[in-house]
Amino acid sequence: MEFKVELKRRQTDAEKIIYSFLPAEEGLQKTIFSAMNYSVKAPGKRLRPILMRETFLMFGGQDEVVLHHFMAALEFIHTYSLVHDDLPAMDNDDYRRGRETTHKVYGEAMGILAGDALLHHAFDTAAASFAVPGANPALIGRALKILTEKSGINGMVGGQVVDVEMEGKPLNAQQLDFIYRLKTAALLECAMMIGAVLAGAENEDVLKIEGIAGKVGIAFQIQDDILDQISTTEELGKPVGSDEKNHKMTYVVLNGLPQSEEAVKQMSEEAVADLDSFANEHGFLKELILSLIHRRK
Ligand code: IPE
Ligand code: IPE
Ligand code: MG
Ligand code: MG
Ligand code: MG
Repeated sequence: MEFKVELKRRQTDAEKIIYSFLPAEEGLQKTIFSAMNYSVKAPGKRLRPILMRETFLMFGGQDEVVLHHFMAALEFIHTYSLVHDDLPAMDNDDYRRGRETTHKVYGEAMGILAGDALLHHAFDTAAASFAVPGANPALIGRALKILTEKSGINGMVGGQVVDVEMEGKPLNAQQLDFIYRLKTAALLECAMMIGAVLAGAENEDVLKIEGIAGKVGIAFQIQDDILDQISTTEELGKPVGSDEKNHKMTYVVLNGLPQSEEAVKQMSEEAVADLDSFANEHGFLKELILSLIHRRK
């Protein structure tokens, strides 16, 4: 089947899974449920849950029920990171996933709380997998540790801290690499590592997967910076020129467009070559990683 059709099918499947863990919009605090659902249901690419599932399948994972909890949990954490990233105190952006940002629609207080709510709901969703009949608690424990580490102070949050603190300041390649590794690559590592862990992969292989996802993650952020310069708000679904507005030093500012494009290609191809060292079937995963080199949104 054509790659685009395959991808669309996986996105639809991922959305069905993710939406099944969203709250009903009722009760006195229903505004927060509505803000959570608005943020999650806006059309994202669902890259992280898809990467998680494909890695799970690559390592021969069979029973998907526990996996589904973690796919939803990670998309909730990713979505919360976007809701907070767009807040006036951070990147101050009005559009996300082709719609008005959460704080634009619900107000700043609800924007902050929707992010908080999604974060807590993510861990509630992941922890609920202990109750799945036949679940392996040791594997769930390992997956939870990865989810916590990669999203927290040594992962996404840590990266966002340095990203914000360094606004308007010159950065060298090493500092930039630190930020990209934490703010963006960490959640992609999280996705693929959890997929491998829940499928019962050996520790050595999980570490290899972490390295591969790290390369995909850095390439992904460089491409995000490229698109921030060369795309249109219409195509991207979020404001272009956000980095310049916030005086961000990005890979593109530091190295120029042609070198940045080359870096995305090189890192993605390296990741795929590393992936090819596994005998396991991973055709779609490979195509997906390569497709990100030329993604337009
Ligand atoms: C945007 O992530 C934030 C970055 C880490 C660059 P995505 O580009 O995956 O956003 P959605 O989920 O498709 O909206
Ligand atoms: C995003 O970096 C990293 C996150 C953890 C959200 P950006 O600030 O460049 O992401 P976009 O461009 O707003 O999606
Ligand atoms: Mg940002
Ligand atoms: Mg931003
Ligand atoms: Mg960006």
